[in-house]
Amino acid sequence: MQAWVIGNWKQNPATKHEVNTLLDSLLAAINSDENDTVNKVTHCQLMVAPSCIHLAAVSTRLKDTSVLCAAQDISAHSDSVGAYTGDCSAQQVADAGATWTILGHSERRQYHQESHDVLLQKLTHALITNLGVVFCIGETQAQYDAKQTFDVLDKQLAVIKSLLNQELEQQPEFINTLNERLIIAYEPVWAIGTGKVPTVNEVSATHEHIKHMVAGFAVPLSNISVIYGGSVNAANADSFAANAMINGALVGGASLKADSFLAIANAFSHTKA
Ligand code: PGA
Repeated sequence: MQAWVIGNWKQNPATKHEVNTLLDSLLAAINSDENDTVNKVTHCQLMVAPSCIHLAAVSTRLKDTSVLCAAQDISAHSDSVGAYTGDCSAQQVADAGATWTILGHSERRQYHQESHDVLLQKLTHALITNLGVVFCIGETQAQYDAKQTFDVLDKQLAVIKSLLNQELEQQPEFINTLNERLIIAYEPVWAIGTGKVPTVNEVSATHEHIKHMVAGFAVPLSNISVIYGGSVNAANADSFAANAMINGALVGGASLKADSFLAIANAFSHTKA
């Protein structure tokens, strides 16, 4: 199975100039990697998710490269146009060059109160517009401490379950390709940006649970990629990559430096080769 290493740039970098500097070093490193048979990033699909304001410029620069471009979010209200001040629709981000979008990141859930219904709307809009989706789920520290992780994840996965139940009749063509166009990112909230990480065995058991759950949905998603996110860096990537249940990484802080992002990509590329 091909691994995914996805950079979530969040509300970074501050300027167009810094975006270009990051892309310059990322593309230079990838080009030199492609000529390097030892470090080749061949078994790893790279993706970056810049902020909405930088999406068009980044996707233009990535057009003829192997790196995909994703949005970090899309509007719940309309997949196209409308009176929704501040929102960007699935159609708009696709027109700007995104082929994927992240949805349900814990920062969106926390700061924008994204609910089951909102996420179901977004998921539907994305898939109808032909955007792939990186769907984020994860428990808080309190939920982890109370051993509620699987219950929390099951509730968050219910958005996908509802999508499959509701859209089955209407949209069979996008449902049929969901195994390739939906990635689940397991991101414990307490591990994001904190330097704290669960053990590889914990992540592995959680991914096994997620895969088991989605394989039991109305349309069995039995071949879905489940990636891990939360303080992944160049030093710990190898241990996550070595586990067969972990199909890639969603990387925040370490994706803002080309060398750490590429080191993570190389870790997954080697072990999944
Ligand atoms: P982090 O963020 O790698 O900085 O912990 C991950 C994420 O929020 O996707």
